[in-house]
Amino acid sequence: MPPTIKLALTYDDVLITPKRSTFASRKEALTKTSLTKKLSLGIPIVSANMDMVTGETMAVTLARLGGIGIIHRFMTIEENANVIRRVKRAQNLIISDPYTIEPTATVMEVKIKAAELGVGGLLVANSDRKLLGVISSRDLLFATSDIQTVAEIMTPYDKLVVAKEGVTFAEAKRILAEKKIEKLPIVNGQRVIEGLVTMADLKNLGQYPLANVNSDGKLIVGGSVGVNGDYIERAQELVKAGVDVLVVDIAHGHSDLMVKAIEKLRAACPGVEIIAGNIATADAARDLCEVGVDGLKVGVGPGATCITRLVTGCGVPQLTAVMNCAEAAKKYNVPVIADGGIQKSGDIVKAVGAGADSVMVGALFAGTAESPGRIVTRGDKKFKVYRGSASFDVSEKRKTLGLEKKDLSEVVPEGVESVVPFKGSVTDIVGQLVGGLRSGMSYTNSHTVDELQQNCEFVQITNAGQRESGPHDIGSL
Ligand code: XMP
Repeated sequence: MPPTIKLALTYDDVLITPKRSTFASRKEALTKTSLTKKLSLGIPIVSANMDMVTGETMAVTLARLGGIGIIHRFMTIEENANVIRRVKRAQNLIISDPYTIEPTATVMEVKIKAAELGVGGLLVANSDRKLLGVISSRDLLFATSDIQTVAEIMTPYDKLVVAKEGVTFAEAKRILAEKKIEKLPIVNGQRVIEGLVTMADLKNLGQYPLANVNSDGKLIVGGSVGVNGDYIERAQELVKAGVDVLVVDIAHGHSDLMVKAIEKLRAACPGVEIIAGNIATADAARDLCEVGVDGLKVGVGPGATCITRLVTGCGVPQLTAVMNCAEAAKKYNVPVIADGGIQKSGDIVKAVGAGADSVMVGALFAGTAESPGRIVTRGDKKFKVYRGSASFDVSEKRKTLGLEKKDLSEVVPEGVESVVPFKGSVTDIVGQLVGGLRSGMSYTNSHTVDELQQNCEFVQITNAGQRESGPHDIGSL
């Protein structure tokens, strides 16, 4: 029997038919959704675990906007855990283990430590964490030399306002406002440091009301692991660092290797949420749901840097892949991430309409101020590098870091390296994407993501329809 040929479509092949709408404003659309069985998102946007997309700054920014960043894994385990730790410390209600410095340290040492940790000041404590004082950026301004000691210039304990162990966040907030101070250390009866509340964290709370945080006020963040080599150790270190969700990410996620990896990760990291991928079929979704994953990542070959379909001949156009996987995953209540190929806000509306609970974005966020990597200037234009995780360049980077055992001559790349124009802040891009999503929800009279999934009716369009959908028959400026 010859193989059958089914029709499969992607975002540009379809449009969503508008419906009578009760909306007075697109602001009525609620974008809250699920990332995994337990974790939710304020907006259905996840940044890709790629080395030129998601590091600390991207993860912090996206979580503050209500999404989540998945930190890439193309770095040592130690560095990877440190990135997670830094995201977790970026925002707090009460910091339970504040950074400290010894009173014998020099001004130079304080400056270096504060810069490394990304903080303005430090609590001064002895080795038993007994609070001796605070050294702030203001104290540093009045230092006369870099070899002065902390003890000489700190604000000593008897001049500090401190709160007693057990203080509530609301009380701490009131004290900060009343005393007009930047930092409020919390100590127990023996003056041992129990926590810290800072003005900077209070400002963040006001500035980012939609921030995706857990009960401690810390931002939610994801980490990624593979299925070979040191992945269990990496996962355990990420969990120790406070990661909220692990993304087990390989090119072909519908595999025995993936199933075994999920089983091992479950045993090694009990309680952590696990998203697995990438997959493109209902069979794959069902098999991974049966193993007990908490989320699925769908997309084989739709990404901007992907050449998997060219190299292997395999893949499924993304809209069909999302529809099939989401239908299967719904039976297990497992949320689906549509990963790759999102070029514009309308694609997000279509992905969610097709059943995805969120989308993962790479290319659109590469080239922003928040993505890792430096800006390259050519003439009067600015660019940033963007490359596939399966590109030769990433394999070379992995080899240099000792993460790749294979000889580089054996690598068959399934991704390419390129540059994308520098685009400014990701906050503006997310604003446009979410605005477009809300408008799409109003066109379909969907007040929630769930309603969009119920209400969506697609029409397949032709090349003429695609041409008609973009700007046409006008000049370019
Ligand atoms: P976009 O289109 O947003 O897609 O840039 C991001 C997603 O692309 C996938 N990815 C790859 N796929 N070869 C592939 O076939 C690669 O080298 C590669 N690198 C990333 C990945 O799923 C990502 O989230």
